[in-house]
Amino acid sequence: MSLVDELSALADKTLAEIASATSSSELEAVRVAVVGKSGTLTAYLRSMGNVPKEERAEVGKSVNATRVRVEQALEEAKSRLAAAELASSIEDAAVDVTLPGRAQQIGSRHLINGMIDELCEIFLGLGYSVVEGPEVETDYYNFEALNAPADHPSRSMQDTFYVHDRSGEKSTHIQSESDVLLRTQTSGVQIHAMEDRELPIYVIAPGKVYRRDVADPSHLPQFHQIEGLVVDKGITFGDLKGTLEYACRAIFGPERKTRFRAHYFPFTEPSAEVDVSCGICHGEGCRMCKGTGWLEILGCGMVDPNVLEMSGIDPEVYSGFAFGCGVERIACLKYDVPDLRMLLEGDMRFLRQF
Ligand code: DAH
Repeated sequence: MSLVDELSALADKTLAEIASATSSSELEAVRVAVVGKSGTLTAYLRSMGNVPKEERAEVGKSVNATRVRVEQALEEAKSRLAAAELASSIEDAAVDVTLPGRAQQIGSRHLINGMIDELCEIFLGLGYSVVEGPEVETDYYNFEALNAPADHPSRSMQDTFYVHDRSGEKSTHIQSESDVLLRTQTSGVQIHAMEDRELPIYVIAPGKVYRRDVADPSHLPQFHQIEGLVVDKGITFGDLKGTLEYACRAIFGPERKTRFRAHYFPFTEPSAEVDVSCGICHGEGCRMCKGTGWLEILGCGMVDPNVLEMSGIDPEVYSGFAFGCGVERIACLKYDVPDLRMLLEGDMRFLRQF
């Protein structure tokens, strides 16, 4: 085969390789193999000196022509492959700007806290102050000073969790280790308020309470109460009734009726329970109100003179009333929720409704 034929075969082979290269790196490999420092075509260029004189012009022309064709083909293939690679990398990194964004989930106040705030607002509007008491309480404040001494039968309904006090400190009202407990009611805040505050007293005290109860539709081992206490000169049962009737309408709506039923609490005399007319059947009787037409919402009464006296207030000069209710219960009655436990399950589909 003549040199010219060899060159023409090399050109055909190289052009075919260039045409079938599928990436810039494949193309670069072809370039290096043919026109690189030790490439096949470069070798022909370098060996021109060995070509007999009479053939040199023809072979030289052929070598050059081959080089030009190969370089041109390389250039074209290079820009074709670069464009394709750019297009595919853009496609890989593509962002669909027409997709709707993902909304941020924003938390909100829990129904229980919302209910506490709502109740506090009502009483703040009547000039009451919001106070708090300790959740880890002594037997004295939770029972004794509320007229329920150690052998009092009312204690059995409010069994609780007792706290082992490791501090070794003896506070005035702690007689033994079993005297420190998780409070079963917010009523003990009444005693703190009477001991600590100037008279007259108009306070409302929201907070957590604990009982040794198993959770069921109407019981929770930990729940919230709101306590109210008024101590002033000339306070009567009429003040108690007027205040609670106003509060009930503010919570449940003006169309709801209230009734006071005689009851017993150790720290109030007389005592009552307040019912509100059932919002589902409007007094006809249904499952929610167990056929009675009424829903029990709170306990209340006139502060027992003995309780005032134990806290250093003269019952001949001052009188007062108190009331207490369960926050979860009020929330469930207001929004027709059939089970207290639903408030604590953390199901967003439920909680978002409020
Ligand atoms: N502490 C009572 C309870 O947990 C509720 C209560 C009743 C509070 C009468 C009061 C009251 O202040 O006067 O069942």
